[in-house]
Amino acid sequence: MANFIPEDKISEIKNAADIVDVVSEAVLLKKTGKNYVGLCPFHSEKTPSFTVSTDKQIFYCFGCGTGGNVFSFLMKQEGLSFPEAVRRLARRYGIDLPDKPMSPGRKRQIDERERLFGLNREAMDFYHRTLMTSGTGRRAKAYLDQRGISDRTIDDFKLGFAPDGWDRLLNHFSKKRVSPLMVEKAGLVVPRKNKSGYYDRFRNRIIFPIFDSNRQVIGFGGRVLDDSLPKYLNSPETPIYDKSRSLYGIHRAREKCRDSGTVFIVEGYLDLLALHQHGIENCVATLGTALTAQQVRLLTRFAGQIILVYDSDEAGLRSAQRCIEIFWQEHIDFRRQDVFREEKADTHILVLPAGHDPDSYIFKYGPEKFLEAADRAPGIITFLMDCAVRKYGLSTEGKIRIISEIQAPLAAINDPVARTLYIKQAAERIGVDERAVARRVETAADEKRFAAGVPGRGVGRSGESGKGDAAGPPGDDEMDRPESRTERKIIAMMLQFPDILTEIKEQNVLKYFGNNVLKKIGEFILEVYPQTGSQVSELIVRMDNRQQQQIVAALAMGDESWNMKGCLRLLGRFVETGRKIQESGLLDEKIRTAEKNNDQVLLLSLLKQKQKMAMRSEQKKMAILNEKQ
Ligand code: UTP
Ligand code: MN
Repeated sequence: MANFIPEDKISEIKNAADIVDVVSEAVLLKKTGKNYVGLCPFHSEKTPSFTVSTDKQIFYCFGCGTGGNVFSFLMKQEGLSFPEAVRRLARRYGIDLPDKPMSPGRKRQIDERERLFGLNREAMDFYHRTLMTSGTGRRAKAYLDQRGISDRTIDDFKLGFAPDGWDRLLNHFSKKRVSPLMVEKAGLVVPRKNKSGYYDRFRNRIIFPIFDSNRQVIGFGGRVLDDSLPKYLNSPETPIYDKSRSLYGIHRAREKCRDSGTVFIVEGYLDLLALHQHGIENCVATLGTALTAQQVRLLTRFAGQIILVYDSDEAGLRSAQRCIEIFWQEHIDFRRQDVFREEKADTHILVLPAGHDPDSYIFKYGPEKFLEAADRAPGIITFLMDCAVRKYGLSTEGKIRIISEIQAPLAAINDPVARTLYIKQAAERIGVDERAVARRVETAADEKRFAAGVPGRGVGRSGESGKGDAAGPPGDDEMDRPESRTERKIIAMMLQFPDILTEIKEQNVLKYFGNNVLKKIGEFILEVYPQTGSQVSELIVRMDNRQQQQIVAALAMGDESWNMKGCLRLLGRFVETGRKIQESGLLDEKIRTAEKNNDQVLLLSLLKQKQKMAMRSEQKKMAILNEKQ
């Protein structure tokens, strides 16, 4: 099914859907004044801070900062993509989504993808039949039996067998008049060197079909039946198989992850099958490659807690470090996405006893022992600390080394409260002064930030920022800065009192914004809000950045009583201050240049100007004070 849905349909669906209706299915809502409130489904809380507005058709949680419109809610709650959320609502409200005209290029692309899915499914059936019903499959079936893989698991995961011989699958497809070129595109056959023609990629191997979360077959892995090499062979990347986004077992794990809130990540096909067969179904496998940011993002749509399972400290260490890197990247690209909050708080590393991988462990000790071990699995930072302590010991030198090893991971923790706690914990563990560790972490954070070109977030101010006022998603230090407060207020004004937009434009108010995120949002509102008939939920539909969507939901949610006179006064003051800051900045710049050029005459006149400016603002302050008295 193609994903493209025309804009006007999206608006139609959004207008038909009632956010209170949709949210009510998941959250018990109570009416208070104009809004509804309930316990937030996205973080755990005892007093309701999750708010839904009927007239604005948006939701916002004052506790965790998640917010958006009816589509965002479904995406987050059900783990759907945007088109999936749109289609879900279309069905619910009986709106037809006609298959719309598509560009010929796009159509060809979609047709090709559909065909490749079809070919893969056909190949999967062929391999599965060979395993289950043919004489040649008997050896493979015996191997799986010996590995303890049940018929039920074979069926659940549609395992198969690729028979020996160079052209078994190829012949199967040519009988069905499928062009070998397409079969090659699916990665199932390989062109012969020198000669024309193709041969089967998978021969004499147990076949593990790989599904995406919509249960489409996107690729295959194949294992030998003995000790020959390579042990595993995998499909190459194809138009439908992107390794960095795929996870083995995701099609079956999805629901279970959502139910349990946890996902186990293992390394191998057989590890996954073994866990699954022992009733641990909230589990996916990375298939021997390093975990990618996309995979993490996909998983956090389904589960808040991630437990990485490894067979050795080294593997765990590598992966833990890699995860920290991923989080850091996420931090830059998606500063306010919920991805971090969850991951950061809750990624654990489970290292199994020497010599065991999840497969051998669970067959030997059973699922209870596995789950007990998982319960004890340390969080990522604790794990890194433990490894460092084991590696360097607790001598003075050792401690210095330990701190330099963990300063970067600590700096990558986005949540200031969590960061402070971990710093404290780390300092206590190795018996050094907490402030010393904090300083090191701060330096590391600054260096990273500098390298990445991200504005400061002041590690040193951890936990000071006032949270919980209708300020914007909590926890984002840039948003919480007092300098941003007026700017937030202006954006809230623009959203709640759109009459002011002309004035904002004419006075060029946004020019004086210091917070770039808010400035961008302001520009977007000026451009797009009028086209939406000043509907916040529609505005959110048109924003493609989740951070910005949440800020808009937060700022639109308030119900201040705006009036033109008050607004104009606020804007006037803001613009005046902004201008002065700019002027004095320019003046300072000129003074510096004059100093450098040793131009005494100019310098004198500039300094006079500066003095005058300072006096004027002093006078003004006095005047205001007198007025007040
Ligand atoms: P392992 O070597 O740990 O294999 O590789 P395994 O999964 O435990 O399999 P068994 O128990 O020996 O049968 C872990 C994963 O790395 C990938 C595979 O996805 C494998 O499941 N891998 C490994 C390859 O892609 N190619 C290889 O040659 C080896
Ligand atoms: Mn194994």
